[in-house]
Amino acid sequence: MKNIAIFVSGNGTNCENIIKHFSGSTEASVALVVSNRADSYALIRAARYNIPTVVIPKSEFNDEAILMETLHRYDIDFIVLAGFLLMIPDFLVKAYDHRMVNIHPALLPKFGGKGMYGRHVHEAVKAAGEKESGITIHWVSNVCDGGEIIAQHSTPLTESDSVDDIAAKVHDLEMLHYPKTIEKAISSL
Ligand code: GAR
Repeated sequence: MKNIAIFVSGNGTNCENIIKHFSGSTEASVALVVSNRADSYALIRAARYNIPTVVIPKSEFNDEAILMETLHRYDIDFIVLAGFLLMIPDFLVKAYDHRMVNIHPALLPKFGGKGMYGRHVHEAVKAAGEKESGITIHWVSNVCDGGEIIAQHSTPLTESDSVDDIAAKVHDLEMLHYPKTIEKAISSL
């Protein structure tokens, strides 16, 4: 049984979807949810499923002893970033090489990099008049949104799609594909 930690900063719809997907699995389960924000709604979602949660504020996130001790305490094999907005420190990238994935709500390499998260991404996609958007699931490297791509899924956009419409289409893809892609990545560990 592999133990997953989910890192999250905000609402946590992906976090909850992943928890649900692995509940009942004999291959992997979500053993810990880590947030940098004590007010992240994801913490409430996790508690509903009796998943342990830990808050590690930004000021402690680059502290190798604190972070690694937490991950060892829960025997974490695999890390899933799900709307996690801090940069991942180098020591963690190294320790979880090809065992840490991220989802980005656009078709990288377009609309990635610093400041490109959540709604900002969909606003940029709309402003550029893109004919499609989608999701990118990638290994985490020390370049923001720059790790090797594992999977991409796209959805067509129309000129009349609002930023909210784009967000909803991309969210549907996240719900459908992220848990399955994680499962596949874990099964090949
Ligand atoms: C998701 O759309 C995820 O792709 C995005 O944040 C959202 C989190 O929503 N991540 C990024 O923008 C990373 N650059 P959630 O908290 O409801 O899962």
